[in-house]
Amino acid sequence: MTTATGQNPAALADGLNAIDAHRLRRDFPILNQEINGQPLVYLDSAATTQKPQVVIDAIVDYYTRNNANVHRGVHTLSQRATDDYERAREAVRRFINAPESCEVIYVRGTTEGLNLVASSYGRKYFKPGDEVIVTGMEHHSNIVPWQILGKEIGVKLRVVPFNDDGELLLDQFESMLGDRTRMVSVVHQSNALGTVNPVKTMASLAHARGVPVMLDAAQSIPHMPIDVQDLGADFVAFSGHKMYGPTGIGVLWGRAELLDAMPPYQSGGEMIRSVTFEETIYNDLPAKFEAGTPDIAGAIGLGAAVEYLEAIGMARIARYEHALMRYGAERLGSIAGVRLVGTAANKGGVLSFIMDAAHAHDIGTILDAAGIAVRTGHHCAQPVMARYEISATARASLGLYNTTDDIDALVKAIDRVIEVFG
Ligand code: ALA
Repeated sequence: MTTATGQNPAALADGLNAIDAHRLRRDFPILNQEINGQPLVYLDSAATTQKPQVVIDAIVDYYTRNNANVHRGVHTLSQRATDDYERAREAVRRFINAPESCEVIYVRGTTEGLNLVASSYGRKYFKPGDEVIVTGMEHHSNIVPWQILGKEIGVKLRVVPFNDDGELLLDQFESMLGDRTRMVSVVHQSNALGTVNPVKTMASLAHARGVPVMLDAAQSIPHMPIDVQDLGADFVAFSGHKMYGPTGIGVLWGRAELLDAMPPYQSGGEMIRSVTFEETIYNDLPAKFEAGTPDIAGAIGLGAAVEYLEAIGMARIARYEHALMRYGAERLGSIAGVRLVGTAANKGGVLSFIMDAAHAHDIGTILDAAGIAVRTGHHCAQPVMARYEISATARASLGLYNTTDDIDALVKAIDRVIEVFG
C-alpha cells in the first residue's frame, strides 16, 4: 500500500523510528522556549543548526579552564589547548574518513574553503581559456570565487543545467567535460532545493578526464554519512555551524598531494617554518594553510559536535530525516495553492515552497508570529530562483531535532497564511 504521493506507510514509520528526535531535542537548550507566545518550531537548520549542550559545554570548558594559544607554548595550558585542538582535527578526519589528519584544514567555513581552493589552486594551475564546471544550483559561494578568478585569468565558467524537479542533466555535464576543463566544483546537496547530486558518478566522469573535483558539502555533512574516499572527491568544504557546531569554524579537506603542491592562501603565524627578510620557508600541512591564531574554541566545539553526531549515527540520522522530509513534502504538497520548489527523487530535508496567496516574506512573517522559524528569500542562490522564474521561496529545512509535530505546526500556520492573504 502507498499514500497519495507514493509513500509506503511501513517504510515511513520505520524511518521515523530511526532516531528518537523527541529525546534528542532535549539536548538543545535553545529549543525549549516560546517565540511570540508559541513554542519555538525551528525549521531553519539549512541556514544554521542549533547547538547541543555538549558543544556549548566544550566551548565554555576551553575558555574556563584551558584558554591558551596552540602550538606556541611549552606551558601546561598551551599544551592542553593544543591537544584538544588537534583531537578535534582527528575527530573530523575520522568523521569524513580522510586518510590523514594533516589533510583537514581548519577554515572559517565552506565559503573560505571554496575561496582557498579557487585562489591557491586556481592561480597556480589555471590558464586563459581554461574552464571550471559548476552546476546551476550552486550557492553564491561556489560561483563568485571562480568568477573573480575567471575575470583575472580569463577562465570560463560552464554551468550544468537541471530539470524542473531540480535534477542535474548528467548527459550535459558529461558533454561539457573537455580538454579545457580544469576543475569541477559542485554542490553535494542544494540549499535551496534539497537535491542530492550524484557526485560520486560526477567525480568518476571527471577523473576519467584527469579533472579534479571540489565538493561543497555544507548542506550534506550534517545529514548523511560522508566518506571523502568513497565519494572520490579531491577537495571537500563544509561549515561547523551547519553540523551542530559553532560559527566561525569549518573545514577544507583536500588530498595531501594536491594541498602540498598548492601555495599558501594567507600568510603569517603558524604557516611558516622560518622567516628572514630575504625568504620564507612554509610549514607542512595543515599549518601551511592556517595562518594566524586559529579559532581554537571553534575547533574544539566542532570536535564535540562531531562526537555528538557519531554517537547518534549518521546513517540513522539520514534515514530519519529522509522520512521526515517525505512526510513534510506530502503534507505541504497536498495544500491547495502551495507549490514545492525542488522535487528531485534524491532529496534531503529541505522543503522550499511558494504560495499563490502570499509572497515568501509575508509567509515568513505569519509563520514567525506562530513561533515558526523558516528562511525566506533567494537563499544566496539567485540563479536557482531565476531558473524557476521566481524571486524567492519560503524554506523549511530540517535537523535531527525536528519531528512530525513541527511539520504539523507548519501546515497549520500555512493554513493561517491562506486565511489572512487568501
Ligand atoms: N547557505 C545558508 C542557507 O542556505 C546560509 O541558508
